[in-house]
Amino acid sequence: MATIIEPFRIKSVEPLTFTTRPEREQILKEAKNNLFLVKAGDVLIDLLTDSGTSAMSARQWAGIMTGDESYAGSESFYRFRETAAGITGFKHIIPTHQGRAAEKILFSLLGGKGRYFVSNTFFDTTRGNIEYSGAEAVDLLTEAGKKPQLIADFKGNMDTAALEAFILEKGAENIPMCVMTITNNSGGGQPVSLQNLKETAAICRRHGILFFIDACRFAENAWFIKTREKGYENTPVRKIAREIFSLADGCTMSAKKDALVNIGGFLAFNDDDLAREAKNLLIITEGFPTYGGLAGRDLEAMAQGLEEVLDEDYLRYRIRSIEYMGEKLTAAGVPMVLPTGGHAVYLDASAFLPQIPAGQFPGVALANALYLEGGIRGVEIGSLMFGKYDAGGQHIAPPMELVRLAIPRRVYTQSHIDYVCEVIIEVFRKRELLSGYRITYEAPLLRHFTAELDPADS
Ligand code: F0G
Repeated sequence: MATIIEPFRIKSVEPLTFTTRPEREQILKEAKNNLFLVKAGDVLIDLLTDSGTSAMSARQWAGIMTGDESYAGSESFYRFRETAAGITGFKHIIPTHQGRAAEKILFSLLGGKGRYFVSNTFFDTTRGNIEYSGAEAVDLLTEAGKKPQLIADFKGNMDTAALEAFILEKGAENIPMCVMTITNNSGGGQPVSLQNLKETAAICRRHGILFFIDACRFAENAWFIKTREKGYENTPVRKIAREIFSLADGCTMSAKKDALVNIGGFLAFNDDDLAREAKNLLIITEGFPTYGGLAGRDLEAMAQGLEEVLDEDYLRYRIRSIEYMGEKLTAAGVPMVLPTGGHAVYLDASAFLPQIPAGQFPGVALANALYLEGGIRGVEIGSLMFGKYDAGGQHIAPPMELVRLAIPRRVYTQSHIDYVCEVIIEVFRKRELLSGYRITYEAPLLRHFTAELDPADS
């Protein structure tokens, strides 16, 4: 098979900054051993997130110049609305400055004490917005999705039996909404099948529960359906995406992922009353409903990005590039969440560094080692991000200790990825020399962003 090449050529470039290992040792020390506190300019290959880090196309940049900056009724809004409605089929399209702003509006309206929201897995900001409203957020992921090394096609699926049982237990009247996150970011970027989307939608409909999609990576999920689910191999991804949305009552979208822009998002659904309330909230938090916290030019770029992300040559390359990285690392014995997902490789830090207990943050040790070895920045998704303390102050570890290496869209080439693999494999070779960390400062909430750490043995 011929190499699947990047389906674009490069018109504009940004230089990378190279540092030496002694420089990186100093930088990491000054950043209190927390990669969030390292300046981006001191990072060679930045895989912290695939959010807002996409390279825009020439046509998107052209849209930046032609954006209509009128306060009300901007032409760019109408173009954006037509595109988003064309893809999703939803009647009301409400722009927001990013995904969590759409979540904030939705859950302010539907949340509240005594209510439950269910999902395959809520992303942190979604969970945060639900909990902030006083409601509870409950994840009901299929068992396969909890086993990092298990190879299965749709490890992002909802456990529909658990969903039925949960509805029986809590009562449908206390569950305003079920949200399907596609792909499941917190569970390894794993996709959800159309079969599972259909079953979940049917259960929700039967019980009068709203069914929404967290659509950040909808195009990547649609590509997995095309390539893995029987009966869809010849269906265009645009049609698959439309079928996904047709099952739902609405969606939230962070355009910073699959709309290939650096900022943007939207909320979409059909209900007229909800739309009126959402727009009223939008006006006091984000802005007038024809710009929603964005500039007209951002709406132009988003409309163009939504079209480009459904290009199948792009999606073939996108998913293949992550799989390629996974194959190289697997061949070298590096443990990770398998199969690779849509937007990132998730290294399994507990299997990589079995000598480091969860309480000494193996994910941080691995992420920091990758930075020191080769200037690569990933993010720990493990005990630092999700660990808790019991009543006696003992550390309670989350189920997995991972390091996410998220691949920005259209930014790095195959040789960058080859380099990243070489660095990971080198660290893997020297893994027995690594040791853990201890926290010297932590904030009461979302501590991973600002925590300060020292080597555990210091
Ligand atoms: N839902 C999912 C599944 C996400 O991955 C994110 C963001 C959001 C909602 C929130 O969107 O950032 O535009 O407000 N994920 C980023 C990440 C931050 O790095 O995975 P936002």
